[in-house]
Amino acid sequence: MSISNRLIIFDTTLRDGEQSPGASMTKEEKLRIARQLERMRVDVIEAGFAAASPGDFEAIRSIASVVRESTVCSLSRANDKDIARAAEALAPAPRKRIHTFIATSPLHMKMKLRMEPEQVLEQARLAIKFARQFTDDIEFSPEDGSRSEEDFLCRVLETVIAEGATTINFPDTVGYAMPEQFGATIRRLRERVPNSDKAIWSVHCHNDLGLAVANSLAGVTIGGARQIECTINGLGERAGNTALEEVVMAVKTRSDFFKLDLGIDTTQIVAASKMVSQITGFPVQPNKAVVGANAFAHASGIHQDGILKARETYEIMRAEDVGWTANKIVLGKLSGRNAFKQRLQELGIELESESEVNAAFARFKELADRKAEIFDEDIMALMSDEEHAA
Ligand code: KIV
Ligand code: ZN
Repeated sequence: MSISNRLIIFDTTLRDGEQSPGASMTKEEKLRIARQLERMRVDVIEAGFAAASPGDFEAIRSIASVVRESTVCSLSRANDKDIARAAEALAPAPRKRIHTFIATSPLHMKMKLRMEPEQVLEQARLAIKFARQFTDDIEFSPEDGSRSEEDFLCRVLETVIAEGATTINFPDTVGYAMPEQFGATIRRLRERVPNSDKAIWSVHCHNDLGLAVANSLAGVTIGGARQIECTINGLGERAGNTALEEVVMAVKTRSDFFKLDLGIDTTQIVAASKMVSQITGFPVQPNKAVVGANAFAHASGIHQDGILKARETYEIMRAEDVGWTANKIVLGKLSGRNAFKQRLQELGIELESESEVNAAFARFKELADRKAEIFDEDIMALMSDEEHAA
């Protein structure tokens, strides 16, 4: 089974991300985010769920009218009305995708859809058949895939591929999967479903157990998926979705391991993160991987000393590669003399002898015991007090 090395990044900040309680966005805000996603060279932008509301329809339509490079996608349930609405909203886009889904787990089919498995199978088939008249780019998701029975999944996926689905997205809708198990399931499905190589396989993971990124990456390495669905800052229902910045930087930083090509301009990541946070009002936690304010900050003396000698000692990726202007040496009580001396130089403060540096460093440590973070202004004030004292 030979598969491509290109990993497709499908961003669903504007659809699944917006399903996060309190994260709803206006049309203008969605448009700003879509432009930023295109600047970042995201392959597919899921712009919304056209049938959900007139506002969602309008937002998709305006994104479809301006985005030229990325594929624009709308979600739709597996029925003609939703699919037609998605197609109408997407009409202005040069590259468009209809993403249709129906639940396949016994629990969802019985309790939510109140349908027999055979009815679900037939509805999935008819949905793909109907969607094909609007575009060749059709994605199908068996919702609650990770809690569905494999034999039934095989039948559904075989049917939708035969009907023309070009992407098979395997969702861990409730964040229930474990990485090795999830990867192995996708692998088996790809092996068992006839003509599975006619479709690109995708993963869509939720973070209820904090495993969305690990599951997505296992879906790629073990399962052979070549599309990851994700959101900026991991925004999404309940505990969120796979974080785009984390999977992208994992694949890039460990290219020796993944050996996959990405189209993403990673220098746009921080701008995207700040924009989504500002628009939704969801702050980014300081220790969040890649985009947190502390992700490239160094506070301890030993680390600061290492970083000043060679950044690779404590940095596995460059702050500049994800769009920060630089890494950050945070001066505080744990800082060492070297970091302090370097900051004096950066501030243009020249001391004549090492004993002057020592005296200034001692005063800095006294201050640091009283104040958690020492800013440049504090150092300048400290040094001017020192001049007066001399
Ligand atoms: O989590 C999920 O199952 C979804 C599908 C619609 C893909 O968001
Ligand atoms: Zn989802």
